[in-house]
Amino acid sequence: MKRHLITAALPYANGGIHIGHLAGVYVPADIYVRYLRLRGHEVMLVCGSDEHGVPITIKARKEGTTPQAIVDRYHEVIKRSFAEFGMSFDIYSRTTSPTHFQTASEFFRTLYDKGEFSEQTSQQYFDPEAGIFLADRYITGTCPKCGAPGAYGDQCEKCGSSLAATELIDPKSAVTGATPVLKETLHWYLPLDKHEAFLRQWILEDHKEWKTNVYGQCKSWLDAGLQPRAVSRDLDWGIPVPVEGAEGKVLYVWFDAPIGYISATRELDPAGWERWWKDPQTEMIHFIGKDNIVFHCIMFPAMLRAHGDYILPQNVPANEFLNLEGDKISTSRGWAVWLHEYLEEFPGKQDVLRYVLCANAPETKDNDFTWRDFQARANNELVAVLGNFVNRALVLTTKYYDGRTPAPGPLTDYDRETISELQALRSGLESNIEGFRFREALKDAMGFARLGNKYLADTEPWKVVKTDPARVETIMNLALQITANLAIASEPFMPFTAEKITRMLGTGNLGWDSLGRIDLLSPGHVIGTPELLFERIEDEQIEAQIAKLKR
Ligand code: MF3
Ligand code: ZN
Repeated sequence: MKRHLITAALPYANGGIHIGHLAGVYVPADIYVRYLRLRGHEVMLVCGSDEHGVPITIKARKEGTTPQAIVDRYHEVIKRSFAEFGMSFDIYSRTTSPTHFQTASEFFRTLYDKGEFSEQTSQQYFDPEAGIFLADRYITGTCPKCGAPGAYGDQCEKCGSSLAATELIDPKSAVTGATPVLKETLHWYLPLDKHEAFLRQWILEDHKEWKTNVYGQCKSWLDAGLQPRAVSRDLDWGIPVPVEGAEGKVLYVWFDAPIGYISATRELDPAGWERWWKDPQTEMIHFIGKDNIVFHCIMFPAMLRAHGDYILPQNVPANEFLNLEGDKISTSRGWAVWLHEYLEEFPGKQDVLRYVLCANAPETKDNDFTWRDFQARANNELVAVLGNFVNRALVLTTKYYDGRTPAPGPLTDYDRETISELQALRSGLESNIEGFRFREALKDAMGFARLGNKYLADTEPWKVVKTDPARVETIMNLALQITANLAIASEPFMPFTAEKITRMLGTGNLGWDSLGRIDLLSPGHVIGTPELLFERIEDEQIEAQIAKLKR
C-alpha cells in the first residue's frame, strides 16, 4: 500500500484564519486525509505557521513590538482555529522552530556546496531612515505607465502593469515615507532557467492530469521562460544565510517556508522522516491556494531536485479564491469571516461551515460565499435532508422497538433497489475524492442521506406500522444500516456529525470497508438516545452577519 504525505500551505502568522483559507486549502486537505485514513493507508498531514517574511516585520514595526511577539500571538490563534474546526494535522509546527532552522540551513548549504546557486549583485532600494532594504511592495510612487499615484514597486494596481521598483517616479518608502536610495547588495539565486527543460517535461508532459487551473498557470510561467530567482534577502528577521560573510542576510521566506514541510515531518518522526520524503513509494500531495502555484509547482520542485534524493509532488490540487458576498475577501478592509468569530456566533456549528465551504469550494473558478446561501444549505440540506433522515431513523427505532435493532424479514424489490443504489454510491464517492473533486464527492456522501430520506418517505413505516408491523422491522433495519453508512461517508467532510451519529448508533468506528454493507448493526443491538444533529439558521442570525460585514 502507498504511503501518503499530504501538506497544507503554511499560513502566515500575521493574522487569523478566515473562510477563504479554509475553503481553499484546509477543508480539502482534511477531507482527503480523513478519507485515506478511513481506508487504512499510511498517511501524514503536515502543516504549521509560516513565520518569516517582510510583512511580519512591518506589522511588528507598526505595533511597536517584535516579529517574534507577532508570530507567537498568531501561531496560537491559528493553531486553535484549526483544532476547533477539526483539522486533523498530524503535526502543526512553525518555521521559527529550531528543527526548521537547522533543516532549512542545511538544505541551503547543500545547494550552495553543490554549486546550485549563482551569486549576483544588484542595486536595491534602501530606506536610509529605517536602515533597511525595502521589498518591492514597500516602495510606492507614481506609475510610469499610467501616471497613477500610489503604485507599488512590483505592480500598479490601477493599470495592472507589473513594474520594477526602480521604474517608479518619485519613489517613497512605505515604511517611513523617506525617499529610498539605491544601494548595491549581493544575493544568491536559484537558476530556475537551468531546471526549465526538466520542469517542462515533468509538468507539461508527465502531469497532464493536474487540474486545468494549475496546469494552465504552470504552462504560462514555463512558456514565458524561467529566470534565476533570488533566495536571500537583506533583512534581520529570518534564517541567516549559512555562508561566511553573509551577515545581515536571511533566506527568502519562499525558500524556507516549503522546507517547513520537511522540518515538520522531521519533528514528528525524527528517526523515520526520510521514508516520507525520499522513498518513491511515498505519494506527496500539496494542498494550496492559487497564489501559491508557482512556488509549489516550479520553485520547490526545482529546489528538491537540485538537492537530490527527494521525491516530487504527485499532484498539486490548488484551488481558486473564495469571495465573500460578491467582493474579494480583504483582511485590511475587514471584509472577511474569521473562524474564531464564527464560532462565537455559531457555537458547535463547525460542520455547517465545513459543509457549506466544501459544497461551494472554488475548485475550478473563483466562487462566492454568501450568508443567504449558507442559511439555505444549512436549512434545506443539513436540517431537512441529513438531520431529518437520521432523526427519523433513530426516533422511530426508539419508539417502536425501545431502541433495539429489529431483525430484517424478506426484502421487497424496492428494498433491493435501495440497497443497490446504496452500494452504487460508494465508487462515485471514491473516485471523486481521489480526483480532488470534493464538491461532487460531498454530493455523493449526501446521497446516502437523500436515499435514506426517500426510502422512509416512500415506505412510510409510520403508516405501515398499523397494518403490517412485521414489514416495519425490515424497513427500520434497513434505515439504520443506511444511517451507519452515512456516518462513514460523511466522516471526511463532517467529522463532528459523523461522530455524533456513530455515538448514537453505538456501532463504534466503522472503516471505509464497511461502506455499502447492510449488516452493520446486528439484530438486537441497542442504539443510544437520539439527539438533533442540526438546527435551523434563522433570518435574524443571517441578517446580523450581513450587517456586521457592512459596518
Ligand atoms: N504562507 C504562504 C501563504 O499564505 C504559504 C506558504 S506555503 C509553504 O501564501 F509551502 F511555503 F509552506
Ligand atoms: Zn499604472
